[in-house]
Amino acid sequence: MQDTEEPEHQLKRSLSALDLTVFGVGVIIGTGIFVLTGTVAKNNAGPAVALAFVAAGVVCGLAAICYAELASTVPVAGSAYTFSFATLGELPAWIIGWDLVLEFALGTAVVAVGWSGYVRSLLDNAGWHLPQALSGTSDTDGFGFDLLAFLLVLLLTGVLVLGMKLSARVTSVVVAIKLAVVLLVIIAGAFFIKSENYKPFIPPATGSTKASGLDSPLIQVLFGYEPTSFGVQGIFTAAAVVFFAFIGFDIVATAAEETKNPQRDMPRGILGSLFICTALYVAVSVVVTGMQKYTELSVDAPLADAFKATGHPWFAGVISFGAAVGLTTVCMILLLGQTRVFFAMSRDGLIPRFFSRVHPQFRTPYRSTILLGVLIAVIAGFTSISELAALVNIGTLFAFVLVAVGVIILRRTRPDLPRSFRTPWVPVLPILSVAASLWLMLNLPSETWLRFGIWMVIGVVVYFLYGRSHSRMNRANKGA
Ligand code: ALA
Repeated sequence: MQDTEEPEHQLKRSLSALDLTVFGVGVIIGTGIFVLTGTVAKNNAGPAVALAFVAAGVVCGLAAICYAELASTVPVAGSAYTFSFATLGELPAWIIGWDLVLEFALGTAVVAVGWSGYVRSLLDNAGWHLPQALSGTSDTDGFGFDLLAFLLVLLLTGVLVLGMKLSARVTSVVVAIKLAVVLLVIIAGAFFIKSENYKPFIPPATGSTKASGLDSPLIQVLFGYEPTSFGVQGIFTAAAVVFFAFIGFDIVATAAEETKNPQRDMPRGILGSLFICTALYVAVSVVVTGMQKYTELSVDAPLADAFKATGHPWFAGVISFGAAVGLTTVCMILLLGQTRVFFAMSRDGLIPRFFSRVHPQFRTPYRSTILLGVLIAVIAGFTSISELAALVNIGTLFAFVLVAVGVIILRRTRPDLPRSFRTPWVPVLPILSVAASLWLMLNLPSETWLRFGIWMVIGVVVYFLYGRSHSRMNRANKGA
């Protein structure tokens, strides 16, 4: 923190609430709305997917307020890993960092798979088709590989290794294209709505067709419910998945140091972008489930394919193009976020420092970028988008729980620290946030819990076998 107080290391406090809101909308809108809407409407919630977006938005709003306090207590540009290292100590920081690597790495894969769906939809408009086996895993029973998603991640990895950055101007153009496409879906699509598609708005609960209990939400397994899809329970299952659509606002909280008046502008910026996104998401899902019966929605590129289904391939082409452009930047931001967290952990000695050596010419952490980039590309190629999204969500929600608990702990242990933003109603609001995040986590499949558990156990083992004895902090303590 001391570094940030020296004038030559201080970031300029130049961002307003409006800047933060635009930035937020830019990083938030992505595969969640463009792809997952179709999947969950079809499998879990029907037209009531709109309500699922509201539920997920509320959970994020609560978490966002806690996040803003932690970010502003440690006004160092960085992620939750950095904040928690400075405030809670090494082990909690390691857990959050390990968790964030999962969030960003697999989040990149999810967005890449979503991108690939829209590029295929665009190619389809032009009359070109990739072989089925190379078109992703959603439609095939046998071998399925998502060639385009694989190539996109490799390409972006190369871009990051070379240290190329998106200029502010390119970013704002992309955000504008993405917003224009979302508004086009809402406005043009509204003309093609058929009211019978909304009947029933909340489809009645049906016995789950899923083969094993592992696919059912943990809450159903824990309380011994008969596994079901749809119904009211289905809305929460859907909320736990479309939560993915809100990921990214936590990145806004990390700009506290550059905000003019953080106490006022941070919550406005974060809550403003969450509110705008929720409104857009609800509108898009109402329109899309009105255009096409939820049972018939496509799972690869539902927004564009709904226009094809109503006989408007031209609109579909424009939407696919805009979605592909918009998703490319979201994918890049997540990939960059993940290399930053990994780099910070390696620099602190928690992961071998071999990985944080920067390239002599490009000055980028090329080793970790290439290692993880290739791994993510392979994962994006072979894994289904819903499984990946569920895993990203559980990891992110878990980080929210830790952040909210962190706010309460810090108020007790370090009441003296200056906080440019203070969460109101502590500890009530953080406790509500923990409860809300846990509730969504419980609505994720048991299988997801199992995978997440394994990932975290590996993390703890790595920490005790390697990180604890090699960390810079520990070595400094021993030397002293
Ligand atoms: N919220 C971002 C998306 O939906 C990550 O793609």
